[in-house]
Amino acid sequence: MATLATPDLAPPAPESARPRHWSERLPGEALNHIPGEAGAPIIGNTFKMLADPHAFTKRMIATYGPVYKNRAFGGWNVALVGPEANELVLFDRDKIFSSEQGWGPILDKLFPRGLMLIDFDHHRMDRRALSIAFKPEPMRHYSGSLNSGIARVVKDWGGKPMRFYPAIKQLTLDLAADSFIGIPWGPEADRINQAFVDMVQASVAPVRKPLPFTQMRKGVKGRAFLVDYFTRETHRRRAEGGGQDMFSQFATATREDGSLLPVDEVVDHMNFLMMAAHDTITSSATSLIWLLAKHPEWQDKLRAEIVAVTGGTSDISYDDLGKLELTEMAFKESLRMISPVPSTPRRALREFEYGGYRIPAGTQVGINTQYVHMMEEYWPDPKRFDPLRFTPEAVKGRHKYAWVPFGGGAHMCLGLHFAYMQVKILMAQILTRYEIAVEPGYAPEWQPWPIPKPKDGLKVTFKPI
Ligand code: HEM
Repeated sequence: MATLATPDLAPPAPESARPRHWSERLPGEALNHIPGEAGAPIIGNTFKMLADPHAFTKRMIATYGPVYKNRAFGGWNVALVGPEANELVLFDRDKIFSSEQGWGPILDKLFPRGLMLIDFDHHRMDRRALSIAFKPEPMRHYSGSLNSGIARVVKDWGGKPMRFYPAIKQLTLDLAADSFIGIPWGPEADRINQAFVDMVQASVAPVRKPLPFTQMRKGVKGRAFLVDYFTRETHRRRAEGGGQDMFSQFATATREDGSLLPVDEVVDHMNFLMMAAHDTITSSATSLIWLLAKHPEWQDKLRAEIVAVTGGTSDISYDDLGKLELTEMAFKESLRMISPVPSTPRRALREFEYGGYRIPAGTQVGINTQYVHMMEEYWPDPKRFDPLRFTPEAVKGRHKYAWVPFGGGAHMCLGLHFAYMQVKILMAQILTRYEIAVEPGYAPEWQPWPIPKPKDGLKVTFKPI
């Protein structure tokens, strides 16, 4: 057994430390019967994949079929491409696939024991405890903070060219300080935000050891700061009674047997949740703004819907969010076209068969959300922005797993309703004030991995209406 846990990165003396064991990555010979390719010595196909993931997958499928092996990111994996594969892996009826062992090698150093890094019974128990933070009452509370926080910033966006991506990234961090942690915007929130950003950047940094002057070193320090902060705060909120923010809900959440979650687990869940929420919302809000900028006719439709619901004010109440049907369809379409989590890794715990192949226990497998979202068979003219692909009738006629931006099954995104809520409130605050404009012919290049973003930050102008 190889263990990737690095003691220098783990929180000090955790209450419920469990050793992290990953099964060895399989040697290439174990996959000899599966078609595919090793790529260049040492690096395999890593850089080819990163340069243009869609073109790479298309070529692999054309050459080897929708089940193929590939060597990248330091080992072999087997790609399973298509809605049926998404269903098999995500729904995981037979409990074959480990999320912990799929994501662990990528995320465990900085976000150990997050929900995506635990499996089966322990996962089910903790997920149920954490779900309390997403019930209607707390959600209603967050919607109030989101309306006021977004309005406060968006009202100054008008009239001048700006880069949307960094602006929404900062705003999303500030909103999280309020809704997630329950602290006001200001120096304390800024310190937390910085520690958090250092940690997220370190999680995808090429140098994986915390050597001096590396991003990983900054990330480790950021993690130590946050672990200390959340630990102290968990004790305080338990003693004094918490607020309505997400963290206070977690701090006082109980398991089925009535016991509180161990403090170090609250801390790890909180760190992980902030990471899971942050770049995904930033990426998806940016994609929607870009697609609406390119399709002013859809801005008009969404604005008309929002005004009809709010009566012309920019604030939208929690109870009215469900009425923004076109806005929701436009968001779903942008999640299809530019998926914030383009692919999902798992590890097979047992041998299984798929697509005519026997896939051995221990294989690292991956589904390709972004590729399936662009498959012509399910999405005619896939590059066209068409929110009407998400009318209830259209959805009914399609494979349920042809659209999986939030995953599916036991690990389906816990914060998806929060994401819909934040993006709908953002749209209401923007579209009731502004027309979203870009220069004629403007087409930013997108960095497709690990979470898509426009390389130039997306140059837009919000023109007051
Ligand atoms: C558009 C925004 C978002 C997208 C596209 C997204 C996508 C995803 C995906 C694909 C997964 C499942 C990964 C897997 O199965 O391996 C996931 C899990 C998760 N997401 Fe999100 N997410 C978004 C926003 C959020 C937000 C706002 C929160 C919190 C407020 C959040 C919290 C989580 C958590 C806690 C998990 C782990 C669930 C589990 O393992 O049981 N996400 N997300």
